[in-house]
Amino acid sequence: HPHFSYRGDALFAEDVAVSRLAAEFGTPLFVYSKASMLDALAAYQRGFEGRAAKICYAMKANSSLAILQVFARAGCGFDIVSGGELERVLAVGGAPSDIIFSGVGKTRAEMQRALALGIGCFNVESEPELDVLNAVAVAAGKVAPVSIRVNPDVDPKTHPYISTGLKGNKFGVAHDRTLAAYRHAAALPGLKVVGIDCHIGSQITTEAPYLDTMDRMLDLVQAIESAGIALKHIDFGGGLGISYNGDQPPQADALWHKLLAKVDARGFGDRQLMIEPGRSLVGNAGLCLTEVLYLKPGESKNFCIVDAAMNDLPRPAMYQAFHAIVPAQRSTGTPHTYDVVGPVCESGDWIGRDRELAVEPGSHLAVLSAGAYCMSMASNYNTRGRAAEVLVDGTSATLIRERETPADQMRSERLVS
Ligand code: LLP
Repeated sequence: HPHFSYRGDALFAEDVAVSRLAAEFGTPLFVYSKASMLDALAAYQRGFEGRAAKICYAMKANSSLAILQVFARAGCGFDIVSGGELERVLAVGGAPSDIIFSGVGKTRAEMQRALALGIGCFNVESEPELDVLNAVAVAAGKVAPVSIRVNPDVDPKTHPYISTGLKGNKFGVAHDRTLAAYRHAAALPGLKVVGIDCHIGSQITTEAPYLDTMDRMLDLVQAIESAGIALKHIDFGGGLGISYNGDQPPQADALWHKLLAKVDARGFGDRQLMIEPGRSLVGNAGLCLTEVLYLKPGESKNFCIVDAAMNDLPRPAMYQAFHAIVPAQRSTGTPHTYDVVGPVCESGDWIGRDRELAVEPGSHLAVLSAGAYCMSMASNYNTRGRAAEVLVDGTSATLIRERETPADQMRSERLVS
């Protein structure tokens, strides 16, 4: 985490001590480093240097408006999966033509809105969706640009909940149905085939699944074009992992160097290339600051009860995910082993297990690698307001999301008479 490091005993985000942020903005607090995001993006940009390539940030990883602004200003497009995410792109002035729309369950209303705005491409996930999109487009007097998401049947060897490219899950069109689906799409008057896409899963930490997927995708490109259907772009999805606990995922530039060699060897180097990275752009650019409320010794476990919980940091509860937890201010006290848990009324509300920490009530801890799939998956369970967020850029720290109040949460509710 090059932009989060200790100076003396104090943890810094770029040039700002995180303890200062906890004091100023309260906890739980997400703290993001802009330089860290731009560095992660730069690795992809180096990988694609000299190519017609588009990086569409998968905003489900973190859709906070200021984060979207960072990527829009750096030249990214966006991969969206809902009408809500579409409105977020518009709110930051992103160009509709730089948007690709993924997801297995697009509604007619979402399709209409996206068509009216002129988004870049619909990544269609099934044959029935092709028919519905065609009908919506014809009714609107438009032609929808489409790509079909192919399920390459490759095992990304990641957690089953976040693996998406194997037979038997809900995503994409089966590998052996692909050609038929493209023929069907090409025959529909409301659709224009522009590309092909895939996405095999998330938090992938080895390069083999990517290399296999590339071979299978290029075979399909060849077969589809041999059938007389031209593909302007090839979209390889996202999925590249980050280090949570010493994992060593491939570097984006080195990985793409190898993948692009395959593209070139097959003669498809002139196509527009697209990717949809999420986690690898923001995951290690964020941490969550939390305050220790109580230390509670137990018979078999000691608990460190903090003010962040599963509603703020859902990944441990949902995927048994590991996030490193470090002190905002290192102390010389004796460390003890704790389960770090939140205040929510569920045994699943844990953030880290068996962690060695020297803390006392009032200490601040930083939960690392919290830039992706934390705030964007946060909930209001237990009527807990969602945390505040701060974006650090050098010595400056800007509040980019206010802490949610009980009034915010109740605003759309109505009493009965
Ligand atoms: N494209 C598509 C079609 C996707 O479904 C996803 C993620 C991405 C791109 C971005 O993948 P990434 O580069 O972030 O791996 N909540 C889970 C992760 C779910 C990923 C869902 N799809 C977690 O916290 O691990």
